[in-house]
Amino acid sequence: MRTVDLILKKRNGQVLLPKEIAYLVNGFTSGEIPDYQMASFLMAVYFQGMQDTETQALTRSMVDSGRILDLSSLPGPTADKHSTGGVGDKVSLVVVPLAAACGLYLAKMSGRGLGHTGGTIDKLESIPGFRTDLTVDQLLAQVRSIGCAIISQTPDLTPADGKIYALRDVTGTVDSLPLIASSVMSKKIASGAQHILIDVKCGWGAFMRDLPQAVELARIMVQLGREMGRKVGCVISPMEEPLGWAVGNSLEVVEAIKTLKGDGPPDFTRAVRYLSAELLRLAGSVATLAEGEEQVSAALSSGAALQRFAWMIEAQGGDARVADDPDRLPRAHLEAVLEAPGDGFLAEVDALQVGHAAMLLGAGRQKKGDAVDPGAGLLLARKVGEEVRRGERLATLYSNQPEGLERALQFLQGAFSLSPERVAPSPLFLGKVGIDG
Ligand code: URA
Repeated sequence: MRTVDLILKKRNGQVLLPKEIAYLVNGFTSGEIPDYQMASFLMAVYFQGMQDTETQALTRSMVDSGRILDLSSLPGPTADKHSTGGVGDKVSLVVVPLAAACGLYLAKMSGRGLGHTGGTIDKLESIPGFRTDLTVDQLLAQVRSIGCAIISQTPDLTPADGKIYALRDVTGTVDSLPLIASSVMSKKIASGAQHILIDVKCGWGAFMRDLPQAVELARIMVQLGREMGRKVGCVISPMEEPLGWAVGNSLEVVEAIKTLKGDGPPDFTRAVRYLSAELLRLAGSVATLAEGEEQVSAALSSGAALQRFAWMIEAQGGDARVADDPDRLPRAHLEAVLEAPGDGFLAEVDALQVGHAAMLLGAGRQKKGDAVDPGAGLLLARKVGEEVRRGERLATLYSNQPEGLERALQFLQGAFSLSPERVAPSPLFLGKVGIDG
């Protein structure tokens, strides 16, 4: 087999055989196929797409590039949750300990923020001392003892995805349905959980800009799960406006803690309650969504979910006192306020622009490997549908860089638009794939 022939085959719109895809993935992972040939292949996939048989073979080859965790000895249902990426999307910080407090076992591998979207690992690392580089054995021991762990991508699991994703990120090939589906699902399959809930974000602030695309991505992922013996459900949720009030690493951890204490933003609280209940139902620990909601309410009001979060922080070397006293988390020193330019109702808070503003403040990275400022970011004071008067606070910005603060403040003005009439906020969810009811 010659790599160039396979590139040509894909470029010309033909269907690759599983053994041809395995040859490309194995060759690239081992270093025999150079970046420039893989980049060319990825661009051919971007334009030509893939048949389901090819996406399945790609996912399988990526899973086979590393270990597959065996969670079968854990004493309860195993579950995982993943988001395709959004702004202010701190859902995993709440759903993971909450679902663990309801009896599920979650060994979650998460990513770092890239571009305008945040990443769970950067958020957790804003907690002083928190370690995300556990070995697979440490991960399993922790999940057995406290029910949950969140770690960063390890070279043991799907090394092919790590390498391919890094190349996609710098070659304009991230937003391709088969490439996203195989990247997400290979990590989820290798992480070993039997029940997997995926939150497919859809809208301006997400990779999937429209609903048909989001539904198609969900369909591919549900099918990949089924073919590999896992139960996968997808929820499609809007990402036009950031989720909750906080955008930025430690600010989002504070908001997650508040939510675990029952004092979170209404939209975010409803999202995490629903997703947790849906995960419990997918995992078979409750028969109905209503029953799931009941368990979720009990775990929140009893403090069990917050306790799980504190245990997870402690087990991963972090300062668990932040669960009681979030003021211990870092906060950038400089502050600025964005004020409403007039009277009206908030019609739009553009998640993409808010995400870019957060990057300018230091909360995100321009390129892989850049450091992030754990205490930088912004807090929205108003959400879509709310009434505002000229001069009222729309957002508070935090940064350690005076220039970044100034640029973000200017940039953020374009993210808000006002209307003379009240505009309804987006629904919490746009649809489900692979989940009944
Ligand atoms: N999240 C992933 O893990 N992979 C992608 O390709 C996109 C989002």
